[in-house]
Amino acid sequence: MRILSGVQSSGQLHLGNYFGAIRQFVEMQNEGEAFYFIANLHSLTSVVDPEKLRTFTLDAALAYLAFGLDPERATLFRQSDVLEHCELFWILGSQVPISHLERAHSFKDKTQKGIKPNFGLFAYPVLMAADILLYSADVVPVGKDQRQHVEFARDWAIGFNQTYVAKYDPADPNGVKNGRPGVFHVPEARIEAETAAILGTDGQKMSKSYGNTVDLFAPDKAVQKAIMGIKTDSAGVVEPKPTEGSALFNLLGVLAAPSEFELIRQSFEKGGEGYGVYKKRLLELFHATFDEARKKREELAGDLGEVEAVLERGAARAREVAAVQMDRVKRAVGLK
Ligand code: ADP
Ligand code: TRP
Repeated sequence: MRILSGVQSSGQLHLGNYFGAIRQFVEMQNEGEAFYFIANLHSLTSVVDPEKLRTFTLDAALAYLAFGLDPERATLFRQSDVLEHCELFWILGSQVPISHLERAHSFKDKTQKGIKPNFGLFAYPVLMAADILLYSADVVPVGKDQRQHVEFARDWAIGFNQTYVAKYDPADPNGVKNGRPGVFHVPEARIEAETAAILGTDGQKMSKSYGNTVDLFAPDKAVQKAIMGIKTDSAGVVEPKPTEGSALFNLLGVLAAPSEFELIRQSFEKGGEGYGVYKKRLLELFHATFDEARKKREELAGDLGEVEAVLERGAARAREVAAVQMDRVKRAVGLK
């Protein structure tokens, strides 16, 4: 089984990235042949400061490694180091109906939030599909918000195969029954249901674009400030507290052990405890969960040469796979 996923390097990594993405990546490195990359080309659509882009890219690599990604098992690389991503982006884009991109949720969300869209943001799902199809991925672990993008990749893979592969049967997209696979392998998304949406400190989805994150590698003081600043309602100590839509409750849910979380749920419903007590507990749980990785990250940051070497070895391995696939694609469309 081939597993592939990416994270953008467009800001500090936060709890949502960990529970929605990184944790699964690291766990899945033992399930098959994993390719994980830092989507720095995607980040260009939002990060315009070169120093920041470099820092965020390295930060993402450090985070993966700190959380136990083993570069001997999984291939870790920078998207921009493998030129085939851009090449396939164009070839796929020449087939993609504009109407699909116009109904992309993430594009609509971002423009509605007042972000002035550039072409890259509009075309973003096409590059993401290229990322996936270049490696013939079977499984793409992502957060819930990325589901539609993986569905696009499936649709476009099938569409391309129908156009260019004789006797391709979309009802048997990977040719399992009739032995006629397409040029593109049709992937599946894997979405971790229980942690599908981590809420940010303001109660919306946690996202670096909303400024409501609890960052994984922020200094202790900043972590404390973010957690103590989680928005709560005005329920008094003795009153029952709402659980639905409560960021505090949501975050306790991902950090506390199930048995403890059950007690927390009962106590929210019953009342009798102030929000401050829950916040203090959340802060303890944060440190209990992440301090080991935080320490490891600091050690790794002291040897950036080694991190760079890991990324370069990863890119060399990724290029081998990508080059074979591009050759097939170019032959299929008539560029070769
Ligand atoms: P952001 O929304 O902060 O810009 P990204 O879009 O770079 O984050 O997300 C990187 C990965 O982390 C994706 O797989 C995404 O689905 C996941 N992710 C991001 N935020 C959350 C969240 N609040 N809950 C669950 N998963 C998330
Ligand atoms: N769009 C993804 C995100 O914001 C990052 C990404 C880029 C990705 N290319 C990908 C994820 C390919 C999975 C597969 O999280």
